[in-house]
Amino acid sequence: MPPTAGDPLLRRADLGDFRLPNRVVMAPLTRARAANPGLVPTELHAVHYGQRAGAGLIVTEGTWVSERAIGFVNVPGVYSEQQVAGWRRVTDVVHALGGRIVLQLWHTGAASHPDHLRGALPAGPSAVDPHERSFTPGGFKDTVTPREMTLADIEGTVADYRVAALNARRAGFDGVEVHAVGPFLIPQFLNPRLNLRSDAYGGDRAGRRRLLLEIVDAVTAVWEGRRVGVRLSPYWSSGDRFTAGEETLSDYDALVAELNRRPVAYLHLRGRDLAGPGAAPDLDAFARYRRLFDGPLIANLGFDRASANAAIEAGIADAVSFGTHFIANPDLVARFALGHDLAAGDPDTYYSGGAGGYVDYPVSSG
Ligand SMILES: Cc1cc2nc3c(=O)[nH]c(=O)nc-3n(C[C@H](O)[C@H](O)[C@H](O)COP(=O)(O)O)c2cc1C
Repeated sequence: MPPTAGDPLLRRADLGDFRLPNRVVMAPLTRARAANPGLVPTELHAVHYGQRAGAGLIVTEGTWVSERAIGFVNVPGVYSEQQVAGWRRVTDVVHALGGRIVLQLWHTGAASHPDHLRGALPAGPSAVDPHERSFTPGGFKDTVTPREMTLADIEGTVADYRVAALNARRAGFDGVEVHAVGPFLIPQFLNPRLNLRSDAYGGDRAGRRRLLLEIVDAVTAVWEGRRVGVRLSPYWSSGDRFTAGEETLSDYDALVAELNRRPVAYLHLRGRDLAGPGAAPDLDAFARYRRLFDGPLIANLGFDRASANAAIEAGIADAVSFGTHFIANPDLVARFALGHDLAAGDPDTYYSGGAGGYVDYPVSSG
């Protein structure tokens, strides 16, 4: 609790071309509120993000780069004019309130389900079932064996990212973040258990990372300077496909070295899963990337005010992003500054749709 005035979290910072008044970043949070046929962000989105404009930087929920990227219910896209107009309202509100906001670009690849794709098979690096579950209109369903993407599919996907970034710029975003975390399209390509290709997009780790690097090149070209962040989860483990072993970590080491050669604004790193409920984040897990990456680093997963201040003070991260805390505390930065307690969110309303649990969390009065 107090004193807070000297909190490292409350110091200003530059992440690429983003000028942050504090180092409290809002992590991307899928909330399934675009419950309309066009998957258009609504006035509720403007209220939700406007309430959180005090963040040093807002990273939006993952947003579809194209119709074929879809793999979760009621998530907005950025591929239609209606969606661009809906997002324009969101960015106008956040900017009017003094905030900064980047759009997270998402593609689920083989982790989608035919129910999202009018019965078509999802496409991934190879015809290997990722053994995940997809949230469909009929509830969670097991993934299936996808179709292997052709070279034309891959070229089309990179082009979709480019158009999505152009659309994000037209919608008034300050930049974009490439979603390369969890079990989705880009990590599927990075993963030797899911990517069995022998062409230029597989074969060895240089081939497996080619898709991500081509996407980074396509979206960074849309902006002058450094307005593109990349979000990675090297420690992600789920099922029998994502195992985060030494080979995976060494592939990510080499990947980060490649990112150093590109005009990336920041690396947004999802850390190791916590050792147990309430355990402190493993700072060594971030320190590995601090040594490897030349640019600014945003750390995420399991932080509170004390552990975030400690990570910044130790020089391990430039900023820290908060997911669940931003769900229940729209005024998170003010609570840190005032030394107020944090409210707990209700997981039952994370993906429930509607205003409840989305725009009705109160600000702290002490
Ligand atoms: C409801 C919910 C939705 C999420 N949606 C996304 C998303 O769209 N994109 C993403 O990269 N991470 C997503 N995440 C992960 C969060 O950004 C973050 O990594 C996670 O909540 C851990 O941070 P925390 O300990 O501060 O909550 C989501 C997490 C939650 C709880």
